[in-house]
Amino acid sequence: MRTCIIGAGYVGTVTGACLAKLGNRVIFVDNDGEKLELIRERRSPICEPGLDEIMRNIEVEATADLNYGVRNSEITFVCVATPTSGALGNSDPRLVKRVCQEIGKSLNRYHLVVIKSTVTPGTTGRDVIPLLEKDGKRLGQDFGVCVNPEFLREGFAVHDFMNPDRIIIGEADERSGQILEKLYESFASPILRVNLKTAEMIKIASNAFLSTKISFINEIGNICKNLGIDVYEVVKGMAYDERIGDKFLNAGVGFGGSCLPKDLQALIAMSGRETGYNPKILREVLNLNQQQPLKIIELLKRHIPHLANMAIGILGLAFKPGTDDVRASSATTVIEQLLGEGAQVKAYDPKAIPNFKAIFPQIEYVEPDEVLKCDAILILTDWEEFATLDYKGKIVIDGRRVLKAEEARIYEGICW
Ligand code: UDX
Repeated sequence: MRTCIIGAGYVGTVTGACLAKLGNRVIFVDNDGEKLELIRERRSPICEPGLDEIMRNIEVEATADLNYGVRNSEITFVCVATPTSGALGNSDPRLVKRVCQEIGKSLNRYHLVVIKSTVTPGTTGRDVIPLLEKDGKRLGQDFGVCVNPEFLREGFAVHDFMNPDRIIIGEADERSGQILEKLYESFASPILRVNLKTAEMIKIASNAFLSTKISFINEIGNICKNLGIDVYEVVKGMAYDERIGDKFLNAGVGFGGSCLPKDLQALIAMSGRETGYNPKILREVLNLNQQQPLKIIELLKRHIPHLANMAIGILGLAFKPGTDDVRASSATTVIEQLLGEGAQVKAYDPKAIPNFKAIFPQIEYVEPDEVLKCDAILILTDWEEFATLDYKGKIVIDGRRVLKAEEARIYEGICW
């Protein structure tokens, strides 16, 4: 099929590259000239395992001209950002709306518009469709609309796109859903067709559930720590119950990244604003996650009560291993607190130093051997290489279960 991808960011690039690999024609539309140039040179504009190789072997177009992209394709995927806006954590659909307004102007024959950006339930029906109904054009007759959320993990996005657990198609009408189902016909995974706002909710509820699992096990872990119990052994015992399982129950220093915290905040904000319902569990999931990184400092203070002028080493700045992404990383909260208490912070991360430096230029960035010379070491990301360091004789507070560090003179696990 002939497809247009608007937004060559993380979701757009992975979607476009994979669709092209599957034999579809793809036109990328973006207003960032550098990204377009990279795509034309058959390179990926984002860093994600396997993507460069796919880009090298496919032929796609890249343009800043949205009108050209829409008029030369049958399906347009809207893959632009929906950032958090304001202190309440609302999801801001302005970019989606701006793009859809432009698409509305470009429609000149039946076309399917697919919202892949994560939006809160109701957004597509309420805000997007009216923008497409330009100059008397009618849904169902002149255009179709779907919501098709993505469930891509950073570091595994190509794999996740090609091997989805499920494909969710929210459809404004049957014809829209049928076209999109056809595009995905080579996939073996189940396809669920629902209405637009149900699809929007499936995405945001899935991420809220994953966040809840993590905060739940962190809470159990905090109790375990006080009782001298290893929460990882507890999970092993719980996981035999198939209703529970063992996935996404790694207790630690909290969840970060570009999706889980943002989507959770958006759901909480939207629920209060639009339905008047106060989602108490979700609020606590978020609160607990904001507090969890500070637990590591509480534990540190058991051994070094006054942090002023003490050298504290940080291993790990990325929100998870395998990425240079530091958005909503627990390291931010920990380092802010350390600096507030007058500690000298020396940090190492295999990939994320440049991104972290942009937000914390005032701390020292060093190699692991310098971190190991500090008065105490905090482990905040479970990079594999941290399991090869020599911790003997050190004070280590571990937020990610790097068990090699148990050889330290003093070792504290955050929840074990
Ligand atoms: C997430 C979702 O997994 C994906 O489906 C969604 O569409 C995008 O958001 P991602 O942001 O790449 O993907 O990160 P993920 O691998 O889910 O991890 C999120 C955070 O949770 C990380 O900070 C990670 O360290 C933390 N985490 C994860 C835990 O603390 N414990 C766990 O058991 C799992």
